Amino acid sequence: MNSDKTGMHGVWANRWTFILAATGSAVGLGNIWKFPYITGENGGGAFVLVYLACILAAGIPVMMAEVLLGRRGRMSPIHTMQTLAKQENAPGFFRVIGWMGALCGFFILSFYSVIAGWTLSYIVKMATGVFSGAGSDVAGAEFGGLLSDPLQLTILHTIFMVLVGVVISRGINKGLEDSLRVLMPLLFIMLVMLFGYALTTPGFGDALAFLFSVDFSKLSGESVVVALGHSFFTLSLGMGAIMAYGSYMPVQASLGKTVLAVGVLDTLVALVAGIVVFSVVFSNGLEPGAGPGLLFQTLPIAFANLPAGDLIGAVFFILVAIAAWSSAISIAEPAVAWAVEKGFSRVKATVFVCAFSWFLGIGTVLSFNEWSSYTLFGKTFFDTLDFLTSNIMLPLGGILIAVFAGWFVSQETIKHEARIHSPLLYKLWMFMLKFVSPVAIGFIFLHGLPI
Ligand code: PFF
Repeated sequence: MNSDKTGMHGVWANRWTFILAATGSAVGLGNIWKFPYITGENGGGAFVLVYLACILAAGIPVMMAEVLLGRRGRMSPIHTMQTLAKQENAPGFFRVIGWMGALCGFFILSFYSVIAGWTLSYIVKMATGVFSGAGSDVAGAEFGGLLSDPLQLTILHTIFMVLVGVVISRGINKGLEDSLRVLMPLLFIMLVMLFGYALTTPGFGDALAFLFSVDFSKLSGESVVVALGHSFFTLSLGMGAIMAYGSYMPVQASLGKTVLAVGVLDTLVALVAGIVVFSVVFSNGLEPGAGPGLLFQTLPIAFANLPAGDLIGAVFFILVAIAAWSSAISIAEPAVAWAVEKGFSRVKATVFVCAFSWFLGIGTVLSFNEWSSYTLFGKTFFDTLDFLTSNIMLPLGGILIAVFAGWFVSQETIKHEARIHSPLLYKLWMFMLKFVSPVAIGFIFLHGLPI
């Protein structure tokens, strides 16, 4: 192995820090913003069921494989895949996992930062009492006003990207660990509090029915692809982010429990966010399929109904922004780590990655206003980038990771790295990785892609 590059980015203090960082990566806008709105657009219960099945059948097994490959390679995903493909005598083709992942990271970061910018705006709106006593009309008008202003969106996008850049340029250990240790539990507490509020609303029962009663007639082929893509997006899989974090993982930690903890936490956050959002939707006669604005048009109404709602709302959006920030850092990490291994300083590498993504993000900013009528197959610039990354590149990366780890990496290597003590669990995982995950992803691709 190319020893001069391995371990040059640092190591997590222990297994818990890895869980914290991986959860910080997984829990983000995907859970709180995207999951509720795509569930609304795709009809509810049946979509949620397919999403949960994808997490179990593809997400968890592929996540274990991704962490394993990272921990084995101990370099950026691009160099890790180059080295492992050679070491394991696998076709050089598998190096594409690293390259496609880095490219996908640029794309995702570009729009992720724009949406995270919305949360920054909502911190201010909440704190200044814009939504005091507001109903759905005020919430809708405020959101519409924000989207129609490209300059404001660009400024917010820029602020967020700078915040991301500052942390990445300082390296993974400094700053990130300490802040996440406090902030992630706070986010969970806030969500539980909002859940408590949702329980008291008249729409709570309808929200549960919408999310958990399954009606397959509402499910299209594209919905199934979206559910699969989202299971990868929400767990940060298929593009090397988790592989990069895995490469900083201490050698002793057991893979199965660690990954399971991250998967369960991530899924819980999404489901709770969904219940809260849809309780507000059904209590106020709103439209579940409202699209990307759903979170921003519903939660302000919830806060308007809570005591000290302005303050709680401001704190909530601060926490969402932080969850987005810890995810965005991991999105950029594979490309930054690669550039550092190539000899660039960490600061230069960060500036390059953030500047390129920032520039691409302007396309997403404009897709909500000036360019909203320019569409490709009915999709705006933002929709196209979102579809291409979540629904095509991430699952494709996932298939390749599953096939590489399942079929090409030697059993000794896998056994040595995985440290799964129960033979039964090990066999189950291998079976999933070799057969179930690739076949399920391939099948959904073939049947669901609108081409
Ligand atoms: N998992 C993050 C979320 O749910 O918001 C988004 C994400 C992070 C996607 C890292 C991809 C990635 F590599």
